[in-house]
Parts: sequence; structure tokens; C-alpha cells
Amino acid sequence: MSVHIEAKNGEIAETVLLPGDPLRAKFVAQEWLTEIKQYNGVRGMLGYTGLWKGERISVQGSGMGMPSLAIYVNELIREYAVKRLIRIGSCGSVQPHVNVRDLVLAISASTDSAMNQRRFQGMDYAATASWPLLRRAIAVLEEGKTAFHAGGILSSDTFYTDDPEDWKIWARHGVLAIEMEANQLYTLAARHGVQALALLTVSDSLVAADPGGDLSSAERQSSFHTMVEVALGVGTGWGDSGTG
Ligand code: HPA
Repeated sequence: MSVHIEAKNGEIAETVLLPGDPLRAKFVAQEWLTEIKQYNGVRGMLGYTGLWKGERISVQGSGMGMPSLAIYVNELIREYAVKRLIRIGSCGSVQPHVNVRDLVLAISASTDSAMNQRRFQGMDYAATASWPLLRRAIAVLEEGKTAFHAGGILSSDTFYTDDPEDWKIWARHGVLAIEMEANQLYTLAARHGVQALALLTVSDSLVAADPGGDLSSAERQSSFHTMVEVALGVGTGWGDSGTG
């Protein structure tokens, strides 16, 4: 039991998928896993463990934004000895060639947040995905037909900004898309010597000429489906102990 997670020791698997939305955690558990057990309901931030192709895996809501995600990631790593954390989320494209419905693998996650400015005393830190997970994700994706992009993203503290053009400085530096969590996921995983990856579906575009091209909820579900299957493929087959 930790401050925000009521699981007992051993109830959380060594690999955890992290959607922002707790109801997505429930959906993933119900649709993909067998023998599921809900281990967390504190603050409605649902967490489940179950089996996928015979292997234990957990799925835990992280909430929106880096302060919320950091609470769950800290507790998962420090209190529950989680070894692999795979964010499954959505992002907004800031590049014309990154289309709605595509998948983005975040090699790195820059940020406009002050969290790492404080941690690194004003210096810059390059928050980076774990190579073994990234390599596995690319291998899984290359077997399928989903268009994907691997590159840098921005983890922002703000969804609604005063300046509607402030994403352009990131786009000019090759950033593919914006979301709100990966930078702290990568930083905390590195700090504690565990692995992390963010897999994102592009749900909207800040550059597309037709803003009506944003995903409907049915389309959102289908690209979500692909992302979950990739995440499950990435998160299993590591020879876990099976005790969490
Ligand atoms: N900004 C931040 N987070 C997001 C976005 C966005 O445009 N789209 C999906 N998540």
C-alpha cells in the first residue's frame, strides 16, 4: 500500500501500461486481459493486473499532466518495484507529415514544465526513451501496417495556452507532437534505473488545414486499439518473475 495506490505487495506486475484516463485502464483490462483483478480505486485512479497471452501485466491510470503522472510513477517504482512503464496516450501533431491516427514513438520528450528545471537546477536534461523498449516497439510496428513516426515530442504543462502559436518554436526544432506526461515518465524511470516508453496516437493536429480532421470518438477507439496491442507486445516477453 502506498499513499495513492492501495495494492498489496505483489499485486502489480513488473510491466505497467499507463493510460492517462483511468476508464481506459479499465477498458484495456476488460478487453485484453484475462483473470483481471482491480488493485486500485483510490481517487478513482483505477489500476488492474491480469494476464495477456499467459503473462502478467498491469494497467494503471496516471491522470493528466506531469504532476499527476509523477505521483503514480514514483509509487509504482519505489513501492511496487515496477520495472517497465509504457505510457499509452494521445498527442497533437505539430508537423504536416504526422497525421491524425498515426502512431508516435517518443524517442525524447522536451518540456516547458518547471519540474526538471528545479530537479536539474536550471540546467537542461534530455529525457529519453529506453532503448530496449523502443527497439521492441519498432520491431512490433514493422510487422504491421500502422503508420508510425519515431522522434522527439513536447510534454507541455498547458493544454490551453494564451499564445495560439507558441508550439511553433518546437515544430521548428523537429518536435513531432505535443502531449503532457512523457518527460516526467522518462526522467523518473532514468532516475530509478527502470525502463520507460511513450506510445501515442495522434488525436488532433495543430497544423492540418482542416481542423475538422480531428478524430471522432469511434476513430479514436480504433487507433487506440492498435496502440494497446503494440504496448502489450512491447511489455511482455521479458522473462518476469511473475510475482510483481
Ligand atoms: N496538447 C497537449 N496534449 C494533447 C494534445 C495537445 O494538442 N492533443 C492530445 N493531447
